Amino acid sequence: MIRVLTYGTYDLLHYGHINLLRRARALGDYLIVGLSTDRFNALKGKTAFHDYETRKRMLEAVRYVDLVIPEETWEQKLGDVQTYKADIVVMGSDWKGSPRFEYLRDYCQLVYLDRTPGISSSDIKEKLHLIKEE
Ligand code: CTP
Repeated sequence: MIRVLTYGTYDLLHYGHINLLRRARALGDYLIVGLSTDRFNALKGKTAFHDYETRKRMLEAVRYVDLVIPEETWEQKLGDVQTYKADIVVMGSDWKGSPRFEYLRDYCQLVYLDRTPGISSSDIKEKLHLIKEE
C-alpha cells in the first residue's frame, strides 16, 4: 500500500486541481490531502471564497481523494508524513525546490507535478469579476 500526501487550498475546485489529484493518486494506492484551514490561509495572505468545511466536503467528493486532513502550519509536514505513513509527498511544480518541502526527502519520496496551464483559483476569481463588470 503506497500512501501519497499532498497539500493545498483547493478553493473553487477546478480541472487543474482534479488533474493534480488524479496524477497524485496514480502514484500510489491512497491519497491524503492536507487542506489549508482558513486561519492558515490568512497566514499565507490568502482568502478562500469557500470556507474550510465547504472545501473539505467538495474534496471528499472527488474519487481520487481518500482522506482530507487540516493543514494548519508550515511545520506540520514531517509529523504528517510520520502519522499517516506517507511514502510520497506530492506538490505542484510551483513549489519545486522550496525549503518548505525539500527537507522531507530524508523521510519520504518528494514529487513535483507540473501544473495544468491556464487555470488557477485566483484566475477564476479575476475572470468572474470581469464578467460581473460587463
Ligand atoms: N494546481 C495545478 N494546476 C493548476 C492549479 C493548481 O496542478 N492549474 C495544483 C497546485 O500546484 C497544488 C494544488 O493544485 O498542488 C492545489 O493548489 P491551490 O494553490 O489550492 O490552487 P490554485 O488554483 O493554484 O490557487 P491560487 O490561484 O489561489 O494559488
